[in-house]
Amino acid sequence: MINLNWKGKNARKNNSLRKHERIPFQVIETHQITKKNLSNFIIEDNWQNLLICGDNKDIITSLLKEFASKINLIYIDPPFATGGDFNYKIQIGEKGQYLDKIAYKDKWKEGLESYLNFLHERLISMKELLTNNGSIYIHLDWHVSHYIKIIMDEIFGIENFRNEIIWAYPAASAQTKRFFVRSYDTILFYSKSGDYVFNNDPSIYMEYSDRVKNALKQDEKGTFYYRGGSHDGKKLSRKVYITQNGIFPRDFWNDIPYIRANTLEYQGFSTQKPERLLKRIILASTNKNDLVADFFCGSGTTLAVAEKLGRHWIGCDLSKHAIHMTRKRILDVENSNDILNWNKKYNKKPNSFKILSLDDAEKKALIPREFLSKEIKNRELLQNRKNPDFIVSIKKNQKDVIIELKDYISPNSELIRDNVKKKITTFSDWIDYWSIDFNFQGNIFNNTWISYRTPKNRTLNLITSSYRYKKPGIYVVMVKLIDILGIETMQRHEIKIK
Ligand SMILES: C[S@@+](CC[C@H](N)C(=O)[O-])C[C@H]1O[C@@H](n2cnc3c(N)ncnc32)[C@H](O)[C@@H]1O
Repeated sequence: MINLNWKGKNARKNNSLRKHERIPFQVIETHQITKKNLSNFIIEDNWQNLLICGDNKDIITSLLKEFASKINLIYIDPPFATGGDFNYKIQIGEKGQYLDKIAYKDKWKEGLESYLNFLHERLISMKELLTNNGSIYIHLDWHVSHYIKIIMDEIFGIENFRNEIIWAYPAASAQTKRFFVRSYDTILFYSKSGDYVFNNDPSIYMEYSDRVKNALKQDEKGTFYYRGGSHDGKKLSRKVYITQNGIFPRDFWNDIPYIRANTLEYQGFSTQKPERLLKRIILASTNKNDLVADFFCGSGTTLAVAEKLGRHWIGCDLSKHAIHMTRKRILDVENSNDILNWNKKYNKKPNSFKILSLDDAEKKALIPREFLSKEIKNRELLQNRKNPDFIVSIKKNQKDVIIELKDYISPNSELIRDNVKKKITTFSDWIDYWSIDFNFQGNIFNNTWISYRTPKNRTLNLITSSYRYKKPGIYVVMVKLIDILGIETMQRHEIKIK
């Protein structure tokens, strides 16, 4: 057995995160979705999908108690140790203005060792979360995939290695003429044991090559065939019949395009992966109602595909912006591509999900560094700044209530760069999302009404639909607003219904 050694590894060897202190989850909000279009994919039990904000090391530690041996598939697309920063686009209002914001940094000051330590301890515990017939796919590229393969052989056993999938995409342009253009990612696929789920599902098949398609003929019954085959090294010219679905996938995937800005699935997240990549993985390695997890969910690709394929899901990310993007992507899943019929819209509401967090430190109004005016040096000072404020008017007509958003006031306006402020022309340009819990019960926010902008639909409703209370009483109405900088503000109102 060949092992890879590096500084810090032995401190972590066999060191399951189980031994770390567990932090309890806090439920931040719930989205109980009322289904209009019932489908076969409705999950019949009481499970609610989970979107968790925080460091996945703490999240995995906290999940181990309830979810050890419960997750059927893990797909992760972690930072690749590229040394770069990755952006996403913040869109403003309706007029096509946008800002670039750093989504996450992939810099490892203490070198490759610190990256390997980071992933190693997480991979050990991800194995504990998998069911005995479960699988894991790790999406990487040339920077570290060779190191992680050796580490995975050690953790999962070389006998459980299944594939090194090459996802080849056309490179945008050659950045250098000093070596060959790098134009593929590597996805390592391991199962937890030899007895693992792997479905021969026609929906995962690859298209026939143009050479085969051009050579196709139809027999008298209309079935397609080409002439070919070989025996004892000699080429034959026998009829090889084909099915319409294409060929069973090889480990070289060149049939899935990279995301382009003009597509429906584009979220403006620079490392977003295509939904059709996840479709193949999820259909091959899970069955309906199985549990899929992505601990580096980014813009939420894995979760959106799991949702559309009727799988349960758990997703998490360190970045509040990634969680917000995923929240909107799941809420708006009905307007995304139908994963089994790509040219149609999915047209179904998502299943209910909860948003959890491990701490509430992030509730402070923290302006992203790249939007701060250049003169602002002392970031510490800013942490204690007040949250933005907003004004709503509440109109009652007996038991019916309507709320209108009237204004948004940024107390931090003087701290924000002029080039950001210039792009904002009306108060509603500040707003990305607002939602109401008309009957707030305590600490969990249950969305009853919501309006938000998506990459393709920039309209925001500033007036809620009418909400009817069933009984007289005094109710707490909680309003949640998330601005384009990702700052979340809550406002509490009491109303008396006679
Ligand atoms: C390559 S992106 C994932 C992109 C995703 N597959 C998609 O399709 O949008 C990696 C993500 O991992 C997140 N991340 C990095 N370190 C993390 C950690 N320790 N815990 C949780 N998330 C982390 C980053 O914030 C980033 O969103």
